[in-house]
Amino acid sequence: MVERSNSRYLGVNITRKSIIFLLISTLSVLSWFLIFSSTNPNRVLDYISVPESTDSPLIIIKNAESPNPQNKEDEKRGGTKIEELVTENREEATTEEPISENKENENTEEPIRVETIEKVSLSPTPKPLKVYMYDMSPEFHFGLLGWKPERNDVVWPDIRVNVPHHPGGLNLQHSVEYWLTLDVLFSELPEDSRTSRAAIRVKNSTEADVVFVPFFSSLSYNRFSKVTPKQKKSQDRELQENLVKFVTSQKEWKNSGGKDHVIMAHHPNSMSMARHKLYPAMFVVADFGRYSPNLANVDKDIVAPYKHLVPSYVNDTSGFDGRPMLLYFQGAIYRKAGGFVRQELYHLLKEEKDVHFSFGSVQNHGITNAGEGMRTSKFCLNIAGDTPSSNRLFDAIASHCIPVIISDDIELPYEDVLNYNEFCLFVRSSDALKKGFLMGLVRSIGREEWNKMWRRLKEVEKYFDFRFPAKDDDGDYGVQMIWKAIARKAPLVKMKVHRFQRFTRPFLGLSKD
Ligand SMILES: *[C@@H]1O[C@H](CO)[C@@H](O)[C@H](O)[C@H]1NC(C)=O
Ligand SMILES: *[C@@H]1O[C@H](CO)[C@@H](O)[C@H](O)[C@H]1NC(C)=O
Repeated sequence: MVERSNSRYLGVNITRKSIIFLLISTLSVLSWFLIFSSTNPNRVLDYISVPESTDSPLIIIKNAESPNPQNKEDEKRGGTKIEELVTENREEATTEEPISENKENENTEEPIRVETIEKVSLSPTPKPLKVYMYDMSPEFHFGLLGWKPERNDVVWPDIRVNVPHHPGGLNLQHSVEYWLTLDVLFSELPEDSRTSRAAIRVKNSTEADVVFVPFFSSLSYNRFSKVTPKQKKSQDRELQENLVKFVTSQKEWKNSGGKDHVIMAHHPNSMSMARHKLYPAMFVVADFGRYSPNLANVDKDIVAPYKHLVPSYVNDTSGFDGRPMLLYFQGAIYRKAGGFVRQELYHLLKEEKDVHFSFGSVQNHGITNAGEGMRTSKFCLNIAGDTPSSNRLFDAIASHCIPVIISDDIELPYEDVLNYNEFCLFVRSSDALKKGFLMGLVRSIGREEWNKMWRRLKEVEKYFDFRFPAKDDDGDYGVQMIWKAIARKAPLVKMKVHRFQRFTRPFLGLSKD
């Protein structure tokens, strides 16, 4: 009995030991694996940047092969720059750290800033992105602005004579669809004298890098998503259904499975139905708050800025000492889902000196007041509302008020070429709700550091600005920045299209229409 129970006990013990041993050894193997991958951060980066780095050499090869003398010009203008970019990329890939140290030594003044500006101004695509745009019925685009063509066969306004006005107001926040479409139209006119354009319209879709779908989805949502008593469904809903029918029946969509299509869906509620049908395309969005990751995500899609509602602060000489208010927030304090942080923060900060916390809504008198408040404050709070992003961030940038971003899920425009840490502060929601944390942080930024961020803000503000007609120095304005962001995804798009075509036996040389 004793022996038996003993041996049984022993047996149990042994199996337990062996299980523990197995566990420990598995864990140690796993941890080695983790250590390896964490000391090798390039693994993830490599994966993401593969399409970018393969892009530049490809372009050089094209330039080198081309016997066309016209391309000599291109080489002169862009060739050296691309080579610099490529060598820089290559060096970065192999020995990233020493190089950035070298740069710092050479340039003790403001190394970070110089490097980033270079990166941004080197990022223009040397050859403009070739954009094929569907000639869709005006009801999808300028018709939504009240524009009517003189004849039935006319699809686009003659923007040399008449640029349909955007209704403005709150609709302007999501007007990126309007500016991008205008830019595509402008790019085919002789009036467009820009020496470098980020995108040009091509009329032959087989030559295009991307297919642009000119549906003003945000305007459609803003103006026509209400069901009137006479309707069964809203006009917005109907337009979305017609859009899906139209787009998915085009040969361009069938050839690519839609993967090379660019579709604008900036308002978080726009395309609420069509997104489920057109998601293989690249969406231009404000954020991903209302998308499931399989429909839209930061790898596939493009984050574009809101158009700021407050006016740009021209000739701003305020500086640290010219802004008496420390921290500014204006907006609805009580929001639905996700916005509880606002409410909590309000209770934490309402007694603080130098903090302006206001309930003002944007509709009534809010915009002017907000503009004034932001111009006289050092820091501007951007707290997640019912979506991770809001135009308030871009209002703060236009007012050169250092944004303090409290939005754990926010995604930002062009973050692959722009380091927001140079001109924004990021605070985790959980930290922001700790008593004293936020005020301690903003009070810890001294005059010199603040002025540095402020100067950087004044440099980057144009990346978030939209204007028309485009001018020669337009390269760093919002529309061009978005085209360049799309261009950086073009090689990935190409790969996805090729993979799609594996089994569809596409047109290649067969159809000519
Ligand atoms: C479009 O381009 C392709 C390839 O360059 C060419 O084969 C085709 O004929 C062109 N189509 C038209 C309508 O010009
Ligand atoms: C900004 O400064 C420039 C040059 O001094 C001047 O021409 C321009 O009128 C100023 N603009 C505003 C809005 O103050």
